[in-house]
Amino acid sequence: MDLAIMGYGVVGSGVARLLARNNESIAARSMQPNMRLKYILDLREFPGDPFAPLVVHDVNLILDDPEIGIVAETMGGQHPAFEFVKACLERGKSVVTSNKELVATKGLELMQTAKAHNVNFLFEASVGGGIPIIRPLSQCLAANVISEVAGILNGTTNFILTKMFADGMPFDTALGLAQENGYAEKDPSADVDGHDACRKICILATLAFGRHVYPEQVRTEGVRGVATEDVLYAEHAGYNIKLIGRARRLEDGRVSAVVGPMLVPFDNLLANVNDVYNAIMIHGDAVEDVIFYGRGAGRFPTASAVVADMIDCAKHTQRRRFFDWETGGADYVAPAAQDVVSLYIRLRCGSPDETFAALRGLLPGAQKLSREGAQPHELALITPKMEEGAALAALRGRDVQSVMRLF
Ligand code: HSE
Repeated sequence: MDLAIMGYGVVGSGVARLLARNNESIAARSMQPNMRLKYILDLREFPGDPFAPLVVHDVNLILDDPEIGIVAETMGGQHPAFEFVKACLERGKSVVTSNKELVATKGLELMQTAKAHNVNFLFEASVGGGIPIIRPLSQCLAANVISEVAGILNGTTNFILTKMFADGMPFDTALGLAQENGYAEKDPSADVDGHDACRKICILATLAFGRHVYPEQVRTEGVRGVATEDVLYAEHAGYNIKLIGRARRLEDGRVSAVVGPMLVPFDNLLANVNDVYNAIMIHGDAVEDVIFYGRGAGRFPTASAVVADMIDCAKHTQRRRFFDWETGGADYVAPAAQDVVSLYIRLRCGSPDETFAALRGLLPGAQKLSREGAQPHELALITPKMEEGAALAALRGRDVQSVMRLF
């Protein structure tokens, strides 16, 4: 059986190298002694690259070649990845992908296409880089009713936050380093503004709760607004700030799903996940909390998951490996403002003491925070648990600088 890779970037080149490096064990595990990489599709040339002879520019070479049984899509983005993947599935080729945007937006359609053509569509690499999470969530935890999935889902922003706050590195330098290491998306705003984490929580929520959650249904904030003052207040109160994706099953059958920077208590394992590492926590009624931890981005960690899916496809040429979920719906995700949460709030005001006294009437039990070097017209507080919309209404008209949820 022959293989093809579509997209020779960081992940695609990792897949080619890993297939070559672990050739014997991969052949043994896939029970396909003659598995070989035949084409690499990319618009660019790669002179001097060991895999340059395999590079082609026309997807039809892959589509029309009956010997190609498995295709790894590592191009990223929706288009033309969607058209290429769909065409591969329709031609009877199994596809594995690391493309979270594709799975989060078109996963249901592609899964249905795979079923209709009796081939596999697998996407272990789309969440958590090298961390096994898609199969554990869908298969190993299948006996559970899952009530929550949450975690640090973006390696680049976790790397940036760690470098900024542990090493004092400026934001742009930390982002540049993440790009050099091959962690960041082509368009770094996908990382920094939370869209990458949003796509991943959509995939996890979809698998955990059984209906498709779409990125536009998830309120998403990135890390650009996290200021040094926030970190100092958070640390003084016993929290780290992490970009968290969180999805919960609600009693009325809907789900809550958000992405944003959150204050995570020091004694929570997620608070101590640093650098490019990701960690994903799942709560099931039987298993309770389980946490998956590892490298969430980078060439070989992500290639590890892609190649594992290729091996799985090779082993399942007769039997299919389907993941099942249903379509979502406009009302399936509850408005974020209805979530019951505690908020961290920093605002500018004339007199912090007077402002806090006035706010405490509206937010009973609110806790005033302190930090070294606090400015005279600055107030930071933590609200009691209440509907987010009600807490924010209490602050209407105030000069609010920062709002983050407590995890
Ligand atoms: N840019 C992504 C991240 C790559 O930093 O997590 C892995 O999906």
